[in-house]
Amino acid sequence: MRVLVTGGGGYIGTSLVPMLVGAGHDVIVVDRFYFGKQWLQVPDGPGHLTVIRDDIRWFDGHILEGIEAVIDMAALSNDPSGELDPWKTFDINYLGRARVARLARQAKVPRYILTSSCSIYGFQEGILTEDSPTNPLTVYAKANLLAEQDVLPLASDGFSPMAVRFATLYGLSGRMRFDLAVNGMVLGGFKTGKIPVMKDGTQWRPFMHVRDAARALVHLLTAERAKVRGRIFNVGSDDQNYQIQPLAQLVSGAMQRAPALEWYGDPDSRSYRVSFARVKDELGFEPKERPDGAAREIEAALASGALLAGPQTRTVEWYRHLLSDGAGSVDVRLHGVIF
Ligand SMILES: NC(=O)c1ccc[n+]([C@@H]2O[C@H](COP(=O)([O-])OP(=O)(O)OC[C@H]3O[C@@H](n4cnc5c(N)ncnc54)[C@H](O)[C@@H]3O)[C@@H](O)[C@H]2O)c1
Repeated sequence: MRVLVTGGGGYIGTSLVPMLVGAGHDVIVVDRFYFGKQWLQVPDGPGHLTVIRDDIRWFDGHILEGIEAVIDMAALSNDPSGELDPWKTFDINYLGRARVARLARQAKVPRYILTSSCSIYGFQEGILTEDSPTNPLTVYAKANLLAEQDVLPLASDGFSPMAVRFATLYGLSGRMRFDLAVNGMVLGGFKTGKIPVMKDGTQWRPFMHVRDAARALVHLLTAERAKVRGRIFNVGSDDQNYQIQPLAQLVSGAMQRAPALEWYGDPDSRSYRVSFARVKDELGFEPKERPDGAAREIEAALASGALLAGPQTRTVEWYRHLLSDGAGSVDVRLHGVIF
């Protein structure tokens, strides 16, 4: 299949794109590469990779000709980054991705997948399904919800858009993110012997390995179109809804150093538990990996020196740096540079 992946140079993308190429898909990545292009390492074939450095807000729609599926992931990708410049967040995460979906429909691309987030559930009691009310508490979560609301009604016989609401991810990937809870815990435990735990530790959150997120996207490319058209799927695992303190204890127990826990921050206002029954029962997808295995893998990579916690691994700090850079480099226009 010919698949266009926006944001393919990011945390999910650098796990997903090698998997797609390895499965024989021809992949076109469109990305600004805000974190650098070097993290996207793709072995030869059997599929083919084309990389275009461009912006989802203004790339030329001709790129979509002949594409059979779009996986639209380009975004300012967490809550604190979304607050840095709310207008830019709406411009990219909402308007930019809604533009990609409309262009895809015009170009007669049959499938379109929007990567949204379970964070749109905000603070709520009980187990939340795709039909539960949403409660987006941040600009990032609001932009995801607006994108879903724009994109899904574009569904037609010839165009099957869907939204996946991912759990919070963890695990090793090419473009590493230490701003994610489990990954940050492992880094803190490795560097200082203390695992940072956000207060008050009772908040619930669903989790999933980044490789499982990538596997889910590969799986969804061949889902029966009538089953996914215009629909939302929570993607994660029922048994990986964790409260933060027990999760930190699990991570600590998995690490060689068994670090102590150290509290930080104000009590987190986001707490939600999510049901992943729909994706499992209707589409047959279930995650395979677990946080303790991921913690061991990350610790081993740090210990071997193969994984460095450079400045690009902390998303909000890196975007703050780009925004304060005289070049205003989050917005400088590019014109489809092909590598
Ligand atoms: N990682 C998670 O825990 C998680 C959870 C739920 C949802 N998601 C969603 O999955 C998607 C990917 O997340 P990620 O963790 O890989 O994020 P990431 O920040 O690692 O990657 C995002 C990529 O998008 C690119 N990008 C940003 N703005 C762009 C623009 N205007 N044009 C082109 N490229 C642009 C960046 O250069 C980067 O390579 C996002 O939509 C995110 O909201 C992620």
